[in-house]
Amino acid sequence: MPSTTQLNVAVIGAGAIGLKHMEGFAGHPSARLAAVAETSQERGQAAIDEFETAMLFQDYREVLDDNSVDIVSIALPNHLHAQVALEVLEAGKHLVLEKPMATNAVDGQKIADLAKEKNLHLMVGQNQRFTLEAQTLKRLCLEGRLGDVYYAKAAWLRRSGIPRIGSWFTAKRFAGGGCIYDIGIHVLDLALHFLGDFDAVSVSGQTFSKFGPRGLGEGEWGKSEKDPDQPFDVEDFASAFIRLKSGKTLQLEVSWAAHLETRDVNGVQLFGEDGGATSNPLKLFRSENGEPVVEEPELAEPLVNPDRMQHFVDVVLGEAESFVPVEESLKAQRILDMIYRSAASGEEIRL
Ligand SMILES: NC(=O)c1ccc[n+]([C@@H]2O[C@H](COP(=O)([O-])OP(=O)(O)OC[C@H]3O[C@@H](n4cnc5c(N)ncnc54)[C@H](O)[C@@H]3O)[C@@H](O)[C@H]2O)c1
Repeated sequence: MPSTTQLNVAVIGAGAIGLKHMEGFAGHPSARLAAVAETSQERGQAAIDEFETAMLFQDYREVLDDNSVDIVSIALPNHLHAQVALEVLEAGKHLVLEKPMATNAVDGQKIADLAKEKNLHLMVGQNQRFTLEAQTLKRLCLEGRLGDVYYAKAAWLRRSGIPRIGSWFTAKRFAGGGCIYDIGIHVLDLALHFLGDFDAVSVSGQTFSKFGPRGLGEGEWGKSEKDPDQPFDVEDFASAFIRLKSGKTLQLEVSWAAHLETRDVNGVQLFGEDGGATSNPLKLFRSENGEPVVEEPELAEPLVNPDRMQHFVDVVLGEAESFVPVEESLKAQRILDMIYRSAASGEEIRL
């Protein structure tokens, strides 16, 4: 039965992804987009022109002072995630936070601890888990269709997809990192979700920066301003090998820019004892009477609302369990830290 409760939502950051948050919330019958906080007058105005129920604030603190706001979503540059998340939770609002959770696991832990202390819902919006293909594959894993899944390859490889060279995305002090934080976290999270194990025991990683510093490999994403004098000081390629507590292993490959045949490859490949699978496109590989069989499974009934913002509203209403548990996001954030530490030291990092 649809809930009669109406929840008021505020979105902080009306850039490329903040608009998607607004679209999601606006489509939930029990949510009302009440406020948008955005420092750019132009982007903020464009957002409230589109979503007419919302008031515009330039300072997000005004939203936090508003007692009628129940849920806040943060769609800000990465360096602001931890600081604003702590303020949102301190103000007693439920929080859905863009990936990466923070720019290091220490800050991630502070956010998780405060949400627990305040008894508030917190979810990192890992949208790739929510697609119908990913939910179908998760269901097939849970049903044991692949048998024991012991290895995963996770890749997001773009040929020319650096988001706005000179924007916050390509400066370490604002982004925390490059392609790992921007797109690597998506496929890392997805692979760990399918494997059902987020506990890394060792990580060996390497990062490179081969295109951005030469002004090459730019793609179309993001809305924030560019500063031509800002140095490009993040990675545009990374690879990592991750051993998990269960003995399962995972290979991660990420590029913002690279010499590739295809423009964009993004997904997870699973290796199970009874079958294999790719998440994108969704396919199953198994053997029948010794012959290889390739299946394209029908999309299953989703486990949760495929829109992550709408799912979070369901969670706050008590109608769903969070599909992205905070503990998993924190463990994924620890793996990101380990990749950077391994790349910096040239050594495998063990827990
Ligand atoms: N889940 C996904 O698929 C996905 C995709 C892209 C980006 N992201 C994440 O979303 C976040 C935002 O990315 P984006 O692509 O929308 O970036 P963006 O640069 O397009 O938008 C960021 C917006 O935040 C605004 N802003 C900056 N400081 C502010 C402040 N103090 N108060 C209010 N507004 C402020 C900027 O003016 C800008 O409009 C990042 O953390 C990124 O990693 C997630």
